[in-house]
Amino acid sequence: MIEYLSKVMKKYTLGTSKESVMKMIPERSVKKIILGDKNITLVRVAAEFYAFQGYCPHRGAPLYQGSLNNTNEIICPLHQYRFDIRSGEVKAGACPDLETFPTQLKDQGLEISIP
Ligand code: FES
Repeated sequence: MIEYLSKVMKKYTLGTSKESVMKMIPERSVKKIILGDKNITLVRVAAEFYAFQGYCPHRGAPLYQGSLNNTNEIICPLHQYRFDIRSGEVKAGACPDLETFPTQLKDQGLEISIP
């Protein structure tokens, strides 16, 4: 028997226009946002936005206090594990990958989809 599961995504919109989002989230900044009951880390690189879980899957340090290196990896502030901000893949360290969330910059703001 095959079961089909559908992931229901909730969509949130930050800002009111592309310009307001660009102003709110400066280039290469790492921000904490709360959407529903989830803490999310939001990163901007040029005109791209990446959203992923707020806390490190290793020991739970806040990733929004981490730093971004020049290969677009977030570096956890506690033990310096590194994660690719696009895929969430762990690049240095031994722990699960990050949960990532789709983002889309639209005329009415930045849409972030959360399951
Ligand atoms: S808590 Fe993030 S690397 Fe250990």
